Amino acid sequence: MATQSNATMDKLISLCRRRGFIFQSSEIYGGLNACYDYGPLGVELKRNIKDFWWNWMVSRRSDIVGLDASILMAPRVWEASGHVAGFTDPLVDCKVCKHRFRADMIAEAGKCPDCGGALTDIRQFNLMFKTFMGPVEDSASVVYLRPETAQGIYVNYKNVLDSSRLKVPFGIGQIGKAFRNEITTENFIFRTREFEQMEMQYFVQPGSDMEWFEYWKTDRQAYYMALGINPDKVRFHEHGKDELAHYATAAFDIQYEFPFGWKELEGIHNRTDFDLKRHQEHSGKDMAYFDEVTRERYIPYIIEASAGADRTLLCVLSDAFEEQELEKDTRTVLHFHPAIAPIKVGIFPLVKKDGMPEMAHKIEATLKPHFPVFYDESGAVGRRYRRQDEIGTPFCVTVDTESLQNETVTIRDRDSMQQERLKIDELFHFVYRKMQV
Ligand code: GAP
Repeated sequence: MATQSNATMDKLISLCRRRGFIFQSSEIYGGLNACYDYGPLGVELKRNIKDFWWNWMVSRRSDIVGLDASILMAPRVWEASGHVAGFTDPLVDCKVCKHRFRADMIAEAGKCPDCGGALTDIRQFNLMFKTFMGPVEDSASVVYLRPETAQGIYVNYKNVLDSSRLKVPFGIGQIGKAFRNEITTENFIFRTREFEQMEMQYFVQPGSDMEWFEYWKTDRQAYYMALGINPDKVRFHEHGKDELAHYATAAFDIQYEFPFGWKELEGIHNRTDFDLKRHQEHSGKDMAYFDEVTRERYIPYIIEASAGADRTLLCVLSDAFEEQELEKDTRTVLHFHPAIAPIKVGIFPLVKKDGMPEMAHKIEATLKPHFPVFYDESGAVGRRYRRQDEIGTPFCVTVDTESLQNETVTIRDRDSMQQERLKIDELFHFVYRKMQV
């Protein structure tokens, strides 16, 4: 389903706040810059996105397993990975208004975008958040909040291999929080300092890496199509030499056309044997793999597919959003794929009498153990449809007079607004089938 989104950031932010998708963090204290909290609908949507990713990347495959590594890791991990020395952005300060900017994001070199004042020379600013472990705050107790989940996978690669029957090529997937002290944050949840990554590292024989790189580019594009994203708004962007991260020899971004332009949604990187070699050097532990088929020992190359959960959520929201001018009113609708919609079915008695609420509650009780549903009996049924459209509920079931006679209900499709009549005992299978990818 390719919908014609007409989202603007103002409309999305206001809908998110109004309907309980996303709130500003610590709002009653004036908020904390670029930190957000997911409300009742937002948390369902985010969980569904993460489940969708996990199912696509881990559960349905026999060559990929999962991991959940800790956020705090031995500080030497970040020396080995190159993040202590090289995970920096170029920083400049305005000499007049004192605002800070990322030098590579300034339109006119040397000039402050806010006041036009002169800028300082560029300094390299490390993006890792530092803290102290234990009661003593000295250099020996420094630890970092991980800036990517990937390193937790690399340092566990041997543990996973030794405790499973996996053979190269194989992958390890992980979903978890990452932190970056970004110089500038932007566009709501697009670039924040605390965010969630969904990363998969695929370990391959050296020499087969570019073939697997192409495989993952194709697979990850297919994933966004399965998620229901408009294909016209998804494209690849190849990194030039000056854009490559310190660990990558080849990289493609999957970009999405957000209301503020084409931006990175996911990075696909050929990290070669860079990370495992560095961990071997710094830890003194052998990272080589013995290939029983070729009888060779080698350090595997790694192809990485790294997506942001929050960024995917913003993409999904913005892609699904549509304001439709109808004859009598404007309809706001989120065309989510049923698999990720926070609520799957709205259940309404046509009127609050004649046994209709009781029957509707019975349907609610039957469906609720399987997926989130919402019972609503307040206001005209048209207004109830609109409330569900606005939060992306794909189906609305109405109990009416005929229901009492023959155990059938109407089920209304959010996108076409068409209704059909179904037997109550067919409802579960009808909705369940639509939720499949
Ligand atoms: N392990 C590789 C890695 O971290 P990246 O391109 O820096 O690569 C991967 O990040 C993804 O993580 C991005 O495509 C984006 O979706 C998400 N991401 C990165 N920085 C982010 C930030 N400050 N806020 C929200 N999401 C972010």
